[in-house]
Amino acid sequence: MTSDSSTSADHQPSGAQAPQTPLPRRASVAAHSEKLTKRYGAGDAAVVALDGVSIAFGKGEFTAIMGPSGSGKSTLMHCMAGLDSATSGRTYIGDTELSGLSDSQITALRRDRLGFVFQSFNLVPTLTAEENITLPIDIAGKKVDRAWFAEVTSRLGLTERLSHRPSELSGGQQQRVACARAMVSRPEIIFGDEPTGNLDSNSSREVLTILRTAVDDIGQTVVIVTHDATAASYADRVVFLADGRVVDELRDPTPAAILARMADIENL
Ligand SMILES: Nc1ncnc2c1ncn2[C@@H]1O[C@H](COP(=O)(O)OP(=O)(O)O)[C@@H](O)[C@H]1O
Ligand SMILES: [Mg+2]
Repeated sequence: MTSDSSTSADHQPSGAQAPQTPLPRRASVAAHSEKLTKRYGAGDAAVVALDGVSIAFGKGEFTAIMGPSGSGKSTLMHCMAGLDSATSGRTYIGDTELSGLSDSQITALRRDRLGFVFQSFNLVPTLTAEENITLPIDIAGKKVDRAWFAEVTSRLGLTERLSHRPSELSGGQQQRVACARAMVSRPEIIFGDEPTGNLDSNSSREVLTILRTAVDDIGQTVVIVTHDATAASYADRVVFLADGRVVDELRDPTPAAILARMADIENL
């Protein structure tokens, strides 16, 4: 992948045209929002789930979104990924602004440019692991890159499981199938909403290592929601939400540093 030189950009000699503020570690942005607001319901019953969130997710970075229950984590991820629409503000995948798209264009964008890993695996019970993995590509009428399919499934330890149906697989294996399904189309971004929420600690570690390795080896962009500090510590960056706003962030987080920030936020 890119051997990134931008980390040294903020140490340039002062004669060079150094930026006023340090560059993000990766120069380019995979997705971003501008003053994103999401309100559910109307009048007295209205809930402001997101309150003017402006945030960017770097290309080739692993970002974790954390925050107390009800802080807007899932809503942020769903609006960014085109699974839910904004009340106001804008969200972009690359240069594509989502509110400018029709429903069918958003469906195509999700299918062609994004990968998803959900807490509940979302596999089709009547299909084999292999059929589940290739389903989005098959639906799109595209050709599966068999060499890449073989590499992804082998890396994820699924080669011997490809003819099994979800009911014949453990939870960890099912989530590895979901990761393979997300990775096999080489999406610009993989979004995960609590991808380890239903897994024991060994299977969680496997799935997080798979996502981490995809970032490190092929420059995959990954954004997950989690409430687990250990899971978030696999990320390059943790973004903290409270009451629908971004209140803090950490780079190169350790579980202890994440827990300390979470305690601060809960005590606000
Ligand atoms: N479909 C919905 N209808 C009404 N309120 C909702 C809906 N989805 C989420 N909310 C509310 O929006 C807020 C943020 O929810 P959510 O994004 O699910 O938080 P988190 O994922 O951080 O737990 C909460 O107050 C929640 O009750
Ligand atoms: Mg949630």
